[in-house]
Amino acid sequence: MSDIPSARGFDSTLALFRNPYGFISKTCRDLDADLFETRILLQKTICITGAAAAEVFYRENRLIRTNSMPGRIQKTLLGKGGVQGLDGATHQHRKKMFMSLMGTERIAALEGMSVHMLDSFAPGWEVRDEIVLYDEVRELLTRVVCTWAGVPLPETEVSTRTAQLTALFQQAGAVGPKHWAARRARHRLEKWAAGMIQQVRDGKLQPTQESALHVIATWRDLNGELLNSKVAAVELLNILRPTVAVSVFVVQTAHALYRYSQWQEKLRDDEGLLEPFVQEVRRLYPFFPAVAARVRSAFEWRGYHFPEGRRVLLDLYGTNTDPRSWDAPLEFLPERFQSWDENPYNFIPQGGGDHYTNHRCPGEWIAISQMKVFCRYLVNEINYDVPDQGSELASGELPSLPKNRFIMRNIRRRQ
Ligand code: HEM
Repeated sequence: MSDIPSARGFDSTLALFRNPYGFISKTCRDLDADLFETRILLQKTICITGAAAAEVFYRENRLIRTNSMPGRIQKTLLGKGGVQGLDGATHQHRKKMFMSLMGTERIAALEGMSVHMLDSFAPGWEVRDEIVLYDEVRELLTRVVCTWAGVPLPETEVSTRTAQLTALFQQAGAVGPKHWAARRARHRLEKWAAGMIQQVRDGKLQPTQESALHVIATWRDLNGELLNSKVAAVELLNILRPTVAVSVFVVQTAHALYRYSQWQEKLRDDEGLLEPFVQEVRRLYPFFPAVAARVRSAFEWRGYHFPEGRRVLLDLYGTNTDPRSWDAPLEFLPERFQSWDENPYNFIPQGGGDHYTNHRCPGEWIAISQMKVFCRYLVNEINYDVPDQGSELASGELPSLPKNRFIMRNIRRRQ
């Protein structure tokens, strides 16, 4: 058995922090390997990249999620007791709850709500000199997902809830005051969500049967018990937060339309190109860099030993741009998704494997359909100008957005 190659230096936290999307794949290339060992936050960690590595990560339940996430991510992005940290039968049962919310009709309903909301936002955009697209879409998606999920959102709370939900994903990796602000946001949101869960259980709030709030408030775990209200709150936020986070993909889509402007005409002419276009945005634009798990019991892969309990970090971005899976991987070529042989391990912007049995994101269909709604609107329904300055993606930021959050000027609705 060979020793796993090691990264230079004692601990790679800083290197990962400086280059969150490129560190793992670059180090693998330098070492001419698919994996290497290092320390992250002082803990021994095996970093892996590529489709074959993703298959090991997701297949055969060789890895588990219990205690795999750093505490600071749990206290901001994820919360405690949610589906992300469960394993085995308990995970699969809870995952069914999320998957039950993702039927075609429910996704279409959310889509319709976004189109309707866009129509009500657009007249306001026309009378302003400029808008910041990211801010508009975050508010719009907060309104839409709350309605869809059966969550009452009084007008006076819209901006506060939008800001709190944003803090969970935008400041999850931050240090210092921003990290503490994200923790406060989680605390307040969990209190709010737990209150609503209790009201549903007491019959004081009656969201529709198919809404996320109703499904989560009445879901019973394998032992037949209702989820405790704190955990139910975490799961409700597991619907609200990431749907608002789709605003990042929407801004990245707008950025792609601006940078690769020849696509605007093509998309106007051929509705069938919308999906390949947004898939290419999901592949090439950096969002989630990596996911973490731990070795359930020792195993070998390609002659390397993975000891029990060792933390493993799978490189999502590097796998999506791996030259062994993708021709011209750093070029924006939506055509590649026109004749694409779908593979659960080489295209993993929202995790890989199977949606029901693995931890793959249940919100992929929401993300894709919402990106298409906004892309269609930007291409077909409005004209606008984009100022040159500040529209480049900020490198090293997590998630990666244009510095000016994508400013649009002179918005006019097309006839
Ligand atoms: C904004 C775009 C999104 C991105 C980039 C994203 C990314 C991810 C990633 C990387 C994972 C982890 C996969 C793993 O651990 O193997 C994940 C899991 C998850 N996502 Fe998403 N996601 C997005 C949107 C959504 C939406 C819209 C929802 C729900 C409405 C959602 C709900 C979840 C849940 C509940 C999990 C945990 C699944 C599990 O542990 O089994 N996500 N997502």
